Amino acid sequence: MVIDRGLALPGDRVPPTHRAWVEVDLGAIRNNVKAIRQLLSPSTRLMSVVKADGYGHGAAAVARTALSAGASWLAVATLEEGIRLRAAGIEAPILLFGPTISKEEIEAVAEHRLQPTVCSLAQAHRFSEAGLGVIPMHLKVDTGMSRLGVAWQDAQHLLSALRGLPNVTVASLYSHLATADSPDLLAAAQQVQRFVELVDGLETERARPPLMHLANSAATLSAPTTHFDLVRVGLAQYGIYPASHLRDAVPLLPALSVRARIVFIKTVPPGTGVSYGHTFQTTCPTRLATVAIGYGDGVPRALSNGIDFLVRGRRVQQVGTITMDQCLIDVTGVPETIEGDITTLLGQDGTESIFIGEWVKRLGTVPYEILTTLSPRLPRIFC
Ligand SMILES: Cc1ncc(COP(=O)(O)O)c(C=O)c1O
Repeated sequence: MVIDRGLALPGDRVPPTHRAWVEVDLGAIRNNVKAIRQLLSPSTRLMSVVKADGYGHGAAAVARTALSAGASWLAVATLEEGIRLRAAGIEAPILLFGPTISKEEIEAVAEHRLQPTVCSLAQAHRFSEAGLGVIPMHLKVDTGMSRLGVAWQDAQHLLSALRGLPNVTVASLYSHLATADSPDLLAAAQQVQRFVELVDGLETERARPPLMHLANSAATLSAPTTHFDLVRVGLAQYGIYPASHLRDAVPLLPALSVRARIVFIKTVPPGTGVSYGHTFQTTCPTRLATVAIGYGDGVPRALSNGIDFLVRGRRVQQVGTITMDQCLIDVTGVPETIEGDITTLLGQDGTESIFIGEWVKRLGTVPYEILTTLSPRLPRIFC
């Protein structure tokens, strides 16, 4: 989406009372899900991963969009995330990645028709003994991530034990790749090999669960041999490539923009210290604009003096330490800037864009962390 200059906003979408916000282009998400679907065989299902409030994009809106564009499953990390989707009226099957431990959690999983991940016989037992009806479970296997899951060597044995329990049905068996985004495909090959051996063994014994799945976004884009019955796609559906070498796989559109208003402008002389700690000193007369967004909104303080903003379609420098609620930009080069103007931290304005990769590089982190730390204080505006 291209925004108009200055105060003019697309329609009435952003209330004038909003000082800063996240814009989510649901059309981009629809485009991305459809494009990813094109990479899959017709029988392979697509699971839209909407944990952490849809990677900061708004879980319910993303889920509805993804389902309408060809996803047939959803995944969340926590019980609360699943309950929120049900409360929003979403009826699609929802896989809960995180394990379920307490009796209260088990009851809530059953009540809200969430589908739990189990990693051990003890976890499955608790569901079985709760006597809450037949609960479809997903057996998580550790093929090399060493986080959640039964060791791959023990998976077949555990699967047959689960099948002996009352009130339990095994809907899928799945594993998670640790290095699928590495250009060195060999790194993930061992995990894939272990998973394939497991699938083969289960097929030989006619014990294959209805769904076997392994691929995250990176594997979905790079390795069709990892698709099996279903792919679990998070980052790519939001229009972000898990690694730069995967850019050619499919055209993706970033869905999220971060914008904030300029709330004050003044010109300061050379030699002026700017913001906490005076980490920036002006060297010439400088027109400083105060923007109403800060680290309390999820703009990392570590980006101070290191990023650009877009103002009236042009790049300007952020200067001085980013504070909790505000930060400063140098608008000397854009003299027509006025109070109330909208600035863009991430996203497009006119022909200029700032991609999340610039922040990723500066922070030495991953896009996942930046997206999921954008604060709930920023209203999500869907377009
Ligand atoms: C088990 C599991 N599957 C799939 C995903 C989706 O990963 P991505 O966002 O890289 O597609 C995640 C995300 O961390 C995950 O934990």
